[in-house]
Parts: sequence; C-alpha cells; structure tokens
Amino acid sequence: MKKLKKLFAKNKEWAKKIKQEDPDFFSELSKRQKPKYLWIGCSDSRVPENKIVDLPAGEIFVHRNIANMVVHTDLNSLSVIQYAVEVLEIKHVIVCGHYGCGGIKAAMENHEHGLIDNWLRHIKDVRRFHKDKFSGLEHEEKLDRLCELNVIEQVRNICNTTIIQDAWRADKELHIHGWVYNLATGRLKSLEKCISSNDESQKRNKKHE
Ligand code: CO
Repeated sequence: MKKLKKLFAKNKEWAKKIKQEDPDFFSELSKRQKPKYLWIGCSDSRVPENKIVDLPAGEIFVHRNIANMVVHTDLNSLSVIQYAVEVLEIKHVIVCGHYGCGGIKAAMENHEHGLIDNWLRHIKDVRRFHKDKFSGLEHEEKLDRLCELNVIEQVRNICNTTIIQDAWRADKELHIHGWVYNLATGRLKSLEKCISSNDESQKRNKKHE
C-alpha cells in the first residue's frame, strides 16, 4: 500500500516553517479557534479558500460541497452555519462559486451521472427559476451566468434560514456575501452588495422574484 510519504514529508516541513516564523502559533491555535469568516465554497481542488485569500489556519471556518450549495434541508450545511453564527460568532458569511464549475456544467447538460444527479437537481432548479436570463447567450456565457445566479440563489437560501433570521432579529452584526472566483486569473469578484439585515434580505427576495 502506498503510504503517501510525500504528504507527510510536506506536512513536517510546513509545521517546521510555521513554528520558525511564530513559535506559539500551534500552541495558541490548539486552545481555541476564533475565525472571522465562514466560507461556503465548491469542493473543486482548484479553489482552496485559505490559499486564494492568503490567510493562515484559524481564520476561516469552512463548508464545501459540489457547487457551493445551501440546500434548505441539508443538516450538514445548516449545522455549520449554526455553529459559525451562534458559537463562533462569525460576522461574515461568504458564498464563493467559481467559473468553470463542473457541477454547474453538469446541471446545464442532460447526461446521466447517477446519484449526483439528485444533488445537481438543485442547480437545475436555479436554472429553471432564471430561465429568462439566458436568452441570446453563447453556451460558455450561459455557464458563467448560471455560476453567478447559483451563488446569488445560495446567498438567498442562507438569508432565509431561521439561523440567520434569528441572529438579525437579535441585532447581531452579520453580513452575507456572494462571490465568484475566476480559475483562469486567480481573482475574486463580488457579485452584489452584501446583505446585512432581514429588511435587506426581504428586498433582495422581491428583486429576484
Ligand atoms: Co465547482
């Protein structure tokens, strides 16, 4: 059996380097975490959140799945959001999609992929909600547009969770951001103004109805 020695060697080097730069880094981080951001991103290996915003371990609380979805009844993502907001008291939630997303592409096409099609169905719903927004676009442009619309839709889903609504009702500071990452340039783009209250969320809901 391959033991992936390379990864252990790289880990040893990494831990050594960090300790040289900051001897207390690991001992301090092992006592508590106080991340500033919750990142909801795609599982895609080319979008590693800590790397692309150049932040060290301990700064970002993370949930990743195929096509950065927040499904209303998904206990996994809801649990992450609840813990982030209620226990870690994170003030910024970021949904980050990316152009060239395989999940988005698969949802645009009609090939069969087995079990994953049940997950992609949520993206197909996004496509259906916004079907009037694709007319006149080339295929690639359609894919990019669906990446963006999917992020906007997931921001909306987060705002509509009882977790976020309760937090805003209790006057907690909390901002929900929708971003998209460009694999070809390494750059992030903000899609819309962040949402920071139930009032703003209601207005955004109306805008996208
Ligand atoms: Co993706």
